[in-house]
Amino acid sequence: MTAADQATTANPADTADDAFRSVHGRAPAGVWSAPGRVNLIGEHTDYNDGFVLPFALPHRLAAAAAPREDGKLTFATVGSDGRVHAETPVAVADLQPGTPDGWSGYPAGVAWVLRQAGVRGHGTTGDGGTADAGGWSVDRGADLVIAGDVPTGAGLSSSAAIECATAMALLGLAGEHDQDASRRAEIARWAQRAENEFVGVPTGSLDQTASMCCVDGHVLFLDCRSGETEQVPFNATGAGLSVLVIDTQVKHSLGGSEYGDRREGTEKAARLLGLPALRDVTPDTLADALDRLPADLVPLVRHIVTENARVLEASRYLRDGRIADIGPVLDASHVSMRDDYRISCPELDLAVDTARTAGALGSRMTGGGFGGSAIALVRENDRHAVEAAVTTAFDAAGYRRPRMFVAVPSAGAGRDR
Ligand code: GLA
Repeated sequence: MTAADQATTANPADTADDAFRSVHGRAPAGVWSAPGRVNLIGEHTDYNDGFVLPFALPHRLAAAAAPREDGKLTFATVGSDGRVHAETPVAVADLQPGTPDGWSGYPAGVAWVLRQAGVRGHGTTGDGGTADAGGWSVDRGADLVIAGDVPTGAGLSSSAAIECATAMALLGLAGEHDQDASRRAEIARWAQRAENEFVGVPTGSLDQTASMCCVDGHVLFLDCRSGETEQVPFNATGAGLSVLVIDTQVKHSLGGSEYGDRREGTEKAARLLGLPALRDVTPDTLADALDRLPADLVPLVRHIVTENARVLEASRYLRDGRIADIGPVLDASHVSMRDDYRISCPELDLAVDTARTAGALGSRMTGGGFGGSAIALVRENDRHAVEAAVTTAFDAAGYRRPRMFVAVPSAGAGRDR
């Protein structure tokens, strides 16, 4: 079974389009969508100026949108029950960090950032270029209806998918329909600002960059300091392998203190070492750096430095087409997150350990941690055995059964219609 089979049967763009017509009694001006992601390796390295290696999922969130002229934004979403839930409209001029909150904070935050960036007709910015004073701008308002199948709270970046789909929709309403790689990276930074400054979650750039910049059939190597990207071919199917996603259904939230605590710890360590970021500690200088740090920061720094090295190692294997060889690197990453960064949880550890015992070549939790999903690199021939073993282990432990699907590297954000 492919990941696409596992996504909900209805196409998110169709669902958003239909819901838009039923809510507003007219067709949307267009439908745009953006994917969730899994991170193959490179966890919590993004806000330390490090390296990450995500790929986009086939699961997407779609935004059907049309312009308004009264300065209001309306938001509606289609729930998993198929019902449309509308939020109270908000005036663009009244948007401010934290208001509105809840899920509509994500699209509202994007509108807030785009407004500050001066996005006007033809998607130009206020500081010059080809601004079209007569074109639609975010200030005029918009109707947005959002639907899709990226699991929420599963560590698969549903928030980045909403942000990026909204950004693409609002830019599309302003007349921008084509984005080159550098524009996509800029949109990702805007989406990240919405999450950091409006929603108030201090994430790095991994999720939004993956959602905007990933390409079908590839993993994205991203240097979070320079912003440089490389599309690395990743054809697991061709190698008889699958990346199995195991969603523990333990809901994670990055808004709690744990994520921010880890981030503060690593930033403090960099300050104490007199470095711009932990990216600047290498495996060669690690021992010396650890000697100079208080005990509580040592495991955090060790994770970041070794994780960056693991991303580089995994990338080398993938460039050589040696997909199976990343297995041990994935395993080491999980151990580091479990024991040093301490962001795993019993359900994630059980998923990883069981997958390994049942024949996976490597397995690790993916995303922010404290719940959410693990991935396992499995031989396709072993996949059913791994899935059955994980289900049995979760039943025996009295945990809720995980959702599992095969993740196939898919396309980044784009216009559907
Ligand atoms: C979340 C954040 C990302 C990144 C990961 C951990 O997904 O949104 O910025 O820090 O956690 O790698």
